[in-house]
Amino acid sequence: MARLTIRGGNPLQGRVTISGSKNSALAVLAAVCLADGESVLENIPHGTAILTMCLILRQLGAVVFLDKDERLHIDASAINQYKAPYDLVRRERGSFYVAGLLLGRLGRAEVPLPGGCAIGSRPVDFHIRGFSALGADVSIEHGYMKAHTRSLQGTTLYVGRQSVGTTINLMIAAAQAEGVTVLENAGKEPEVVDVAILLNSMGAHIRGAGTDVIRIEGVSRLQPVTYSIISDRIEAGTFMMCTAMAGGEVLIENVVPEHLRSPIMKLTESGVSIEEHDSSLWVRSEGRIKATDVETAPYPGFPTDLQQPFVSVLSTADGTSVVRENIFDRFRYVDELRRMGADIRVERDTAIVRGVEKLTGAPVEVTDLRAGAALVVAGLGASGETHVHGAEHIERGYEHFTDKLRALGADIEHDDPDIPEASADFSALYR
Ligand code: EPU
Repeated sequence: MARLTIRGGNPLQGRVTISGSKNSALAVLAAVCLADGESVLENIPHGTAILTMCLILRQLGAVVFLDKDERLHIDASAINQYKAPYDLVRRERGSFYVAGLLLGRLGRAEVPLPGGCAIGSRPVDFHIRGFSALGADVSIEHGYMKAHTRSLQGTTLYVGRQSVGTTINLMIAAAQAEGVTVLENAGKEPEVVDVAILLNSMGAHIRGAGTDVIRIEGVSRLQPVTYSIISDRIEAGTFMMCTAMAGGEVLIENVVPEHLRSPIMKLTESGVSIEEHDSSLWVRSEGRIKATDVETAPYPGFPTDLQQPFVSVLSTADGTSVVRENIFDRFRYVDELRRMGADIRVERDTAIVRGVEKLTGAPVEVTDLRAGAALVVAGLGASGETHVHGAEHIERGYEHFTDKLRALGADIEHDDPDIPEASADFSALYR
């Protein structure tokens, strides 16, 4: 288990560059594999989630490698396996996008069901219903979703709960289906839009991404492309939270401010000063903010992925905040915050956060990626040492997180120098 030590109390100062979006990259990696020939992806983040996805695509038969300029080359011409490896897929829920890819590309897919995880039960029933509606013969056998079809047929579908993953998986599957597919109640997240832009640059006909209704006119062939992935709005939001908690002044670069409208609004309401520029945010905080109420919602609402880091910030706010989580079962980390002195009561989907003067460092354990970010945020503002156990969860989705924080003046380090930062794991992908 990887462990971080944080000695809290240092205000953050300087500039930080945001990496490519993990959740976009996971989807783009699958989508780009619909084409034959070599595509090149830029701005790929070096988190272990992405590494896992690359290894899955390799096992399916794709050629995947990084060049010295960190550009990812990917050629799916030789994909011939329709069965995705359980050992890798179970590690990364986003890898379920290979289901849409394999069905679209080979007309056949056998992909392990992702199962539950630390943020609750995460079914894929909407994805499966969508594949069936597109004409695939789908069954669940021995823990796998097995689907096959002679050709997918366009249809009109309602996407349950504006599911991001379902919207993307069905866009990938339908890009080369016969006829027109209409996705109603589609996810509007920037990651959905990114995948639609990518597919269109490959020759797909997708309209309406970013609205409730997406129309996909199937095409017979897609071409390889060079494409740069959007920056990670959740990483940017996390650095906003780090600054709000620790205090200081940070210029967050390589961001799309429009993607962060709701977190910017909430932090501003709490007394954090945020100046927006074309592709950067200037964040200033005194360290203690005002309480506020918030509830998570699909985009453009407040993202569930920032709920946990925001609760850490609110735990030392002046006053009581009410935080409602509408997307996942995502309050387990609150027990860890309590170990640091936070006063938080959870009632079903709602956390009542009574701000305390100061958190105190403690040993804490990470249960999932964003909980890990939340505990780091807490540690930055706490007095004394916080030991964050299970830091490997954080490395799934944050590139060079501790390095970036150290460069801003945080006192944070990996305890075991033998456990590499996530970026080092990518050595298997260089050519
Ligand atoms: N849902 C179902 N059935 C399905 C699919 C979803 O019931 O078949 C439910 C979910 O349980 C949830 C709601 O629908 O209550 C919305 O889930 P959604 O499908 O939108 O989430 P996702 O696609 O599984 C992605 C991100 C998450 C992010 C959510 C919400 C990836 C790989 N994951 O998950 O990111 O929280 O959208 O924005 O893109 C993270 O990065 O830490 C993370 C968890």
